[in-house]
Amino acid sequence: MPDRIESFVAAMGIRPTDRVLEIGCGHGVAATLVCQQLGTGRYVAVDRSPKMIAAAEKRNRPFVEAGVARFVHASLEQLDLGGERFDKVFAMRVRLFHDQPEQACKLVQRWLAANGALFVEYDEPA
Ligand SMILES: C[S@@+](CC[C@H](N)C(=O)[O-])C[C@H]1O[C@@H](n2cnc3c(N)ncnc32)[C@H](O)[C@@H]1O
Repeated sequence: MPDRIESFVAAMGIRPTDRVLEIGCGHGVAATLVCQQLGTGRYVAVDRSPKMIAAAEKRNRPFVEAGVARFVHASLEQLDLGGERFDKVFAMRVRLFHDQPEQACKLVQRWLAANGALFVEYDEPA
Protein backbone atom coordinates (compact mmCIF):
# COMPACT_ATOMS: atom_id res chain seq x y z
CA MET A 1 0.00 0.00 0.00
CA PRO A 2 1.72 3.23 -1.10
CA ASP A 3 2.17 5.80 1.68
CA ARG A 4 0.79 8.58 -0.53
CA ILE A 5 -2.55 6.77 -0.81
CA GLU A 6 -2.73 5.86 2.87
CA SER A 7 -2.03 9.44 3.99
CA PHE A 8 -4.41 10.95 1.44
CA VAL A 9 -7.28 8.70 2.49
CA ALA A 10 -6.54 9.33 6.18
CA ALA A 11 -6.68 13.09 5.57
CA MET A 12 -10.20 12.80 4.16
CA GLY A 13 -11.51 11.59 7.51
CA ILE A 14 -13.97 9.09 6.08
CA ARG A 15 -17.02 8.56 8.30
CA PRO A 16 -19.04 5.33 8.27
CA THR A 17 -22.06 7.08 6.74
CA ASP A 18 -20.18 8.93 3.98
CA ARG A 19 -21.20 8.75 0.35
CA VAL A 20 -17.87 8.80 -1.49
CA LEU A 21 -17.09 9.24 -5.19
CA GLU A 22 -13.62 8.63 -6.63
CA ILE A 23 -12.63 9.94 -10.05
CA GLY A 24 -9.95 7.89 -11.82
CA CYS A 25 -9.67 4.99 -9.38
CA GLY A 26 -6.96 3.15 -11.35
CA HIS A 27 -6.33 -0.24 -9.73
CA GLY A 28 -8.69 0.56 -6.85
CA VAL A 29 -6.14 0.74 -4.06
CA ALA A 30 -7.69 3.78 -2.38
CA ALA A 31 -11.08 2.15 -2.88
CA THR A 32 -10.15 -0.68 -0.53
CA LEU A 33 -9.06 1.71 2.21
CA VAL A 34 -12.19 3.83 1.88
CA CYS A 35 -14.57 0.86 1.83
CA GLN A 36 -12.97 -0.61 4.96
CA GLN A 37 -14.09 2.53 6.81
CA LEU A 38 -17.66 2.63 5.55
CA GLY A 39 -20.65 1.31 7.42
CA THR A 40 -23.97 2.38 5.95
CA GLY A 41 -22.22 4.71 3.50
CA ARG A 42 -21.26 3.84 -0.04
CA TYR A 43 -18.39 4.23 -2.47
CA VAL A 44 -18.65 4.76 -6.22
CA ALA A 45 -15.61 4.83 -8.51
CA VAL A 46 -15.40 5.99 -12.09
CA ASP A 47 -12.54 5.48 -14.51
CA ARG A 48 -12.42 6.02 -18.25
CA SER A 49 -10.21 2.96 -18.75
CA PRO A 50 -12.17 -0.30 -19.04
CA LYS A 51 -9.03 -2.22 -18.02
CA MET A 52 -8.58 -0.19 -14.84
CA ILE A 53 -12.23 -0.32 -13.82
CA ALA A 54 -12.23 -4.12 -14.27
CA ALA A 55 -9.05 -4.46 -12.18
CA ALA A 56 -10.42 -2.19 -9.45
CA GLU A 57 -13.68 -4.08 -9.33
CA LYS A 58 -11.87 -7.42 -9.09
CA ARG A 59 -9.64 -6.16 -6.27
CA ASN A 60 -12.65 -4.91 -4.31
CA ARG A 61 -15.11 -7.70 -5.07
CA PRO A 62 -16.08 -8.34 -1.43
CA PHE A 63 -17.20 -4.72 -1.09
CA VAL A 64 -19.10 -4.89 -4.39
CA GLU A 65 -20.86 -8.04 -3.27
CA ALA A 66 -21.72 -6.43 0.08
CA GLY A 67 -23.35 -3.53 -1.78
CA VAL A 68 -20.83 -1.00 -0.44
CA ALA A 69 -18.88 -0.34 -3.66
CA ARG A 70 -19.73 0.19 -7.29
CA PHE A 71 -17.34 0.63 -10.21
CA VAL A 72 -18.49 2.58 -13.25
CA HIS A 73 -16.72 2.74 -16.59
CA ALA A 74 -17.02 6.40 -17.60
CA SER A 75 -15.03 9.57 -17.92
CA LEU A 76 -15.78 12.43 -15.57
CA GLU A 77 -16.82 14.41 -18.63
CA GLN A 78 -19.47 11.84 -19.65
CA LEU A 79 -20.52 10.71 -16.20
CA ASP A 80 -24.21 10.20 -15.51
CA LEU A 81 -25.09 9.06 -11.99
CA GLY A 82 -28.62 10.42 -12.09
CA GLY A 83 -29.66 12.02 -8.81
CA GLU A 84 -26.81 10.58 -6.72
CA ARG A 85 -24.88 13.08 -4.61
CA PHE A 86 -21.72 12.59 -2.54
CA ASP A 87 -20.32 13.92 0.73
CA LYS A 88 -16.75 13.40 -0.41
CA VAL A 89 -15.38 13.36 -3.96
CA PHE A 90 -11.70 12.69 -4.55
CA ALA A 91 -9.19 12.33 -7.35
CA MET A 92 -5.54 11.29 -7.14
CA ARG A 93 -3.11 11.72 -10.01
CA VAL A 94 -5.87 12.51 -12.50
CA ARG A 95 -4.29 14.90 -14.97
CA LEU A 96 -7.48 16.82 -15.75
CA PHE A 97 -7.37 18.32 -12.23
CA HIS A 98 -3.84 19.58 -12.90
CA ASP A 99 -4.23 20.74 -16.50
CA GLN A 100 -7.78 22.11 -16.35
CA PRO A 101 -8.63 22.59 -12.66
CA GLU A 102 -11.55 24.93 -13.26
CA GLN A 103 -13.16 22.60 -15.75
CA ALA A 104 -12.58 19.60 -13.46
CA CYS A 105 -14.09 21.37 -10.43
CA LYS A 106 -17.09 22.44 -12.50
CA LEU A 107 -17.68 18.84 -13.58
CA VAL A 108 -17.40 17.60 -9.99
CA GLN A 109 -19.74 20.27 -8.60
CA ARG A 110 -22.73 18.48 -10.04
CA TRP A 111 -22.09 15.38 -7.91
CA LEU A 112 -21.40 17.07 -4.57
CA ALA A 113 -24.06 17.03 -1.87
CA ALA A 114 -24.76 20.22 0.06
CA ASN A 115 -21.70 20.66 2.31
CA GLY A 116 -19.88 18.06 0.23
CA ALA A 117 -16.11 18.36 -0.20
CA LEU A 118 -13.64 17.74 -3.02
CA PHE A 119 -10.16 16.33 -2.26
CA VAL A 120 -7.49 16.39 -4.96
CA GLU A 121 -3.80 15.56 -5.20
CA TYR A 122 -1.68 15.60 -8.28
CA ASP A 123 1.96 14.64 -8.59
CA GLU A 124 3.92 12.99 -11.32
CA PRO A 125 4.58 9.32 -10.65
CA ALA A 126 8.33 8.83 -9.89
C1 LIG B 1 -2.26 7.96 -13.05
S1 LIG B 1 -3.72 6.99 -12.81
C2 LIG B 1 -3.99 7.21 -11.05
C3 LIG B 1 -4.76 6.09 -10.45
C4 LIG B 1 -5.01 6.25 -8.94
N1 LIG B 1 -5.94 7.33 -8.69
C5 LIG B 1 -3.72 6.49 -8.19
O1 LIG B 1 -3.50 7.56 -7.65
O2 LIG B 1 -2.91 5.54 -8.15
C6 LIG B 1 -5.03 8.01 -13.49
C7 LIG B 1 -6.32 7.25 -13.65
O3 LIG B 1 -7.35 8.19 -13.92
C8 LIG B 1 -8.11 7.78 -15.05
N2 LIG B 1 -8.61 9.01 -15.68
C9 LIG B 1 -7.86 10.00 -16.24
N3 LIG B 1 -8.64 10.99 -16.67
C10 LIG B 1 -9.92 10.63 -16.40
C11 LIG B 1 -11.18 11.24 -16.63
N4 LIG B 1 -11.26 12.44 -17.23
N5 LIG B 1 -12.29 10.60 -16.21
C12 LIG B 1 -12.19 9.37 -15.60
N6 LIG B 1 -11.02 8.74 -15.38
C13 LIG B 1 -9.89 9.37 -15.77
C14 LIG B 1 -7.14 6.96 -15.89
O4 LIG B 1 -7.81 6.05 -16.74
C15 LIG B 1 -6.30 6.28 -14.82
O5 LIG B 1 -6.85 5.04 -14.41
